[in-house]
Amino acid sequence: VGYKIIIYQECRKIMSIKAVIFDLDGVIVSTDQYHYKAWAQLAYEEEIYFDKEINERLRGVSRTESLEIILSGSDKQYTTKEKEELAARKNRYYRVLLESLSPADILPGVMKVLDSLKSRNIKIAIGSSSKNTRVILNKIGLKGYFDAVADGCDICKSKPDPEVFLLAAERLNIAPKYCMVVEDADAGIEAALAAGMKVVGVGFASANKKAHYRMKDLTFFRWKNA
Ligand code: BG6
Ligand code: MG
Repeated sequence: VGYKIIIYQECRKIMSIKAVIFDLDGVIVSTDQYHYKAWAQLAYEEEIYFDKEINERLRGVSRTESLEIILSGSDKQYTTKEKEELAARKNRYYRVLLESLSPADILPGVMKVLDSLKSRNIKIAIGSSSKNTRVILNKIGLKGYFDAVADGCDICKSKPDPEVFLLAAERLNIAPKYCMVVEDADAGIEAALAAGMKVVGVGFASANKKAHYRMKDLTFFRWKNA
């Protein structure tokens, strides 16, 4: 039943995995600083307090939910139409910043892990809340690289709901119990667990004790065939 992955980093547990589903932002590529700059610009224009701590709460959360978190710092009541305009404006700022994204922004260890999974016929997919997923994959030269992509454009409920990971598994035609997720957001760890998948917490989520495995980044990922 697939390959056995051994992650030496944590506890030498062995598990059968047929697919690995990667979150995009903060796992494959670092877009944190661009999201932060774009939201900070919007908050400044709307005279709403915003800092890095508030920004952390937006990790893994959809654009509209992120906006709600930021607007909770304002006394003003925004209409649905105004909120749509704000979200669109933030995305315009973000898209300008994404222009400078290149394969050099792929995070450490990522390509080695992806290539080794591919060479052993373990399926790889993206499961991201971002509606900019395709643009980002294109910019970093990984368009067409994954066996399946499920993103913010495909789903109704964003992480911590499991929808995006279940959809990725469905597109791979692999049962959730054979899937492992790699995530940097607490919301994503919850989503993976709710999907009945194994989960590796990296980056910010390497502190999340609910993750089955935890590591600073993917350079710590070790595995071998059964
Ligand atoms: C997630 C990010 O991957 O995508 C969140 O961690 C972001 O911070 C969300 O809000 C939605 O992104 P986008 O690109 O659709 O605005
Ligand atoms: Mg992320």
